[in-house]
Amino acid sequence: MESNTPNPNPELITSKLTEIENLIEEEEEFHHLNNPADGIKPVVKKYLGVPNHADQVGNKFYFTDGDAKVEVVVVTDEIIRVRLAPHSVFLEDFSYGVPKLPTRQVSFSLHEDENEFRVSTYKVNCHIRKKDFFISFSDSNNHVTSMDATPMHWEENVQAGGYYVFCTKTCAPDESFFGLGDKPTELNLRGKRLKNWNTDAYSFQWNQDPLYRSIPFYISVNEGIAHGIFFDNTFKAQFDFGSEDRTKTSFWADGGELQYYYIHGPHMMDVVKSYHTLTGTHPMPPLWALGYHQCRWSYYPEAKVRKIARGFRENKIPCDGIYLDIDYMDGYRCFTWNRKYFPDPKKMISELAADGFKTVVIIDPGIRVDDNYSVFKEGKEKKYFCRRSDDYFMEGHVWPGRCQFPDFTNPEVREWWGGLFDELVQMGVAGVWNDMNEPAVFGAGTFPDDVRHQYDGYRGSHRKAHNVYGMQMVRSTYEGLRKIMKNKRPFTITRAGYSGVQRFSSVWTGDNVASWEHLKIGNIQCQRLSISGIPFCGTDIGGFSGEPDGELFTRWIQMGTFSPFMRAHSAGDTKEREPWSFGEPFTAINRKFIELRYRLIPYLYSTFWEHHRYGFPILRPIVMHEQDTVMNHFRQDEFTYGDKILVCPVMEPGQRKRNVYLPKGKWYNFWTYEVVEGGKEVSVETPLETMPLFVKAGSVIPEYPVMQYVGQQEIEEVKLNIYYTDYEVNSFLFEDYGETFAYEQDIYLEKKFVVNGDAKTVTIDQSLEGLYTPRYDGYHFNLIGFPFKPSKITVDGKDVKEFQLNDDNTIEFKYTKTFKHIEISK
Ligand code: GLC
Repeated sequence: MESNTPNPNPELITSKLTEIENLIEEEEEFHHLNNPADGIKPVVKKYLGVPNHADQVGNKFYFTDGDAKVEVVVVTDEIIRVRLAPHSVFLEDFSYGVPKLPTRQVSFSLHEDENEFRVSTYKVNCHIRKKDFFISFSDSNNHVTSMDATPMHWEENVQAGGYYVFCTKTCAPDESFFGLGDKPTELNLRGKRLKNWNTDAYSFQWNQDPLYRSIPFYISVNEGIAHGIFFDNTFKAQFDFGSEDRTKTSFWADGGELQYYYIHGPHMMDVVKSYHTLTGTHPMPPLWALGYHQCRWSYYPEAKVRKIARGFRENKIPCDGIYLDIDYMDGYRCFTWNRKYFPDPKKMISELAADGFKTVVIIDPGIRVDDNYSVFKEGKEKKYFCRRSDDYFMEGHVWPGRCQFPDFTNPEVREWWGGLFDELVQMGVAGVWNDMNEPAVFGAGTFPDDVRHQYDGYRGSHRKAHNVYGMQMVRSTYEGLRKIMKNKRPFTITRAGYSGVQRFSSVWTGDNVASWEHLKIGNIQCQRLSISGIPFCGTDIGGFSGEPDGELFTRWIQMGTFSPFMRAHSAGDTKEREPWSFGEPFTAINRKFIELRYRLIPYLYSTFWEHHRYGFPILRPIVMHEQDTVMNHFRQDEFTYGDKILVCPVMEPGQRKRNVYLPKGKWYNFWTYEVVEGGKEVSVETPLETMPLFVKAGSVIPEYPVMQYVGQQEIEEVKLNIYYTDYEVNSFLFEDYGETFAYEQDIYLEKKFVVNGDAKTVTIDQSLEGLYTPRYDGYHFNLIGFPFKPSKITVDGKDVKEFQLNDDNTIEFKYTKTFKHIEISK
């Protein structure tokens, strides 16, 4: 493209220079004030000058001030990527977060006038202001959603060995911010400054930052319009949401490129879905992984593991997963067994499996320095362990004592490590738990900055690789297991991660505490992880350290029933912590909720499919339903599980009543079937045996019979709970083999139900997509909240002779699963 930039205007340049000088002063102070511990002398920042030129190569546009260059890439209709190269040299385009940019065809245009260059798709405009290189974004109605408050800038810091890169945008008075992963603070991040640097944070506290994961993705909502920013930079990064200055939002990193994706909404849900088109979604988990998991540091010896497993079956409390923490190993050497405690692990695992338990084992990254230990020997010979800048090995102490650490950013190392799981899989291990992979090192915290990483050939110091180390470890675990297990879905769980970790693993929130405050923190963390692209998440139910009493444990089981991942876990020095450990009435209530978890497995699994296929989060905070009302930006107690069930955990001791906000529309109290009009707060009784649960009118909630573990019996029929509505509502049911990757070859069934009604008639339509045929024959319909007693029910034109009217006004009947159209009339 030809540039027709007018000659620079001297007045403009003088005013620009003054502005920049002021900004430099301001920013120097800002940096100095806020990084006193960094020990780095402030260095003069450099700002983009005046853009005088635009070039186009395909969907990429380049703007330069003569020295620095900015690249603007049209990624999709909604996503535009911006990159800055201070001296016009861009790094090679490589990212662990975004394995591949979407390749959909997009139409776009470049426009230039005297004030700006403008790159537009039919949904978004990216404006590059000629006066000062400010970049802003607007929607198709020319409504500005995001605007630079200073030009992009950087700091060349020789002492710290690199560039610091900064982007500062305006922050509107009512703008709210969401996302950033697992931060243990209010859901709305407005007014906060937060850091991304994966950290082992034992017994972390409210507002502690950073924790285990780095998810540099946030969503802004302002004047009812949402957009997202994904700052794909793996270095230590910070975000300021109007904390330093109420009128500014900034993000910056201690190195790497200033590269971010602007993701247009207008709805928060659109932003999250688009974010998933960049970073990927979670694969379908094995169905058993949606059941209840029991963990402890540690169940050993074998007799103890068996006793716990028996405890579940004797107490008739469903459970699918049982975990072996570090004590199963020989001196904490990964991929070995302590034969004193576990003389025949294969036999134990297969007997547990026969009783419906899947065994999950922990594997940490620290490999004991020991020449008689095959994993160490092989890693050493093949030069797979991380080295310092002076070529010495990176050594640190973790559970096994003196350790070295595989460089998981090296594809060859990942391949090797993945292969090490072969023996465990042959023994019957069904899942792997990756821990301490921030990476954590006793004393030092983590690796020194100078450790070198292969970084898939793009090389880097630990400054660049730290935040992705854990993600690459669990990637290696997942890919290795997937190869060994062939067509079976592996289950993996990781503590550390970076954006995109959802392609390989579930996560838990780390070493929390047995306190009511932590129940609240966990509630927020799971909601936040869900909207930050990590759907399969949960907390250590009961709290890792400290002792919960029966009430706290039961309230945590209740919340955990609605966490995508449900596992109880506790530290080694705590008392017994199984669902029956607290006696009655707790055991019975814990059983009732874990049974409810199992009844709702087809619903959760279908919600998972909606995530996997379409990028919907599993947990959705209230703001995601009603972002227009600023009040809702501050609601963080209640959330929906999928889009049909509203959950509000009880998070205070002794609480027997609480207010719950219901989004607009009609809701049914799950326990009483009472109909409640939403759009307001309602007062709900919360005796210990229940918690506030509401179902959206018109929902079809599928239910399995209660089993002690997934697959215990063949499903003979699926119950469909149908909640009356007088407006049209769609629901989905996803079914497949539940343990293979056949769904990738379209061997699945996605059923869509459409329910609609009036005072006299209700219709239910079913349509199918996919090639899978479930083995059960029929549905057991349970009609809830119908305002009339039906005189006639027809399915595909045929009368249903037998239906039952119950005292609670529900109506039950059975029919084959292949129906297309049902009419229920007064
Ligand atoms: C870490 C983990 C915890 C585990 C323990 C021992 O603290 O976060 O879950 O039980 O190490 O492996």
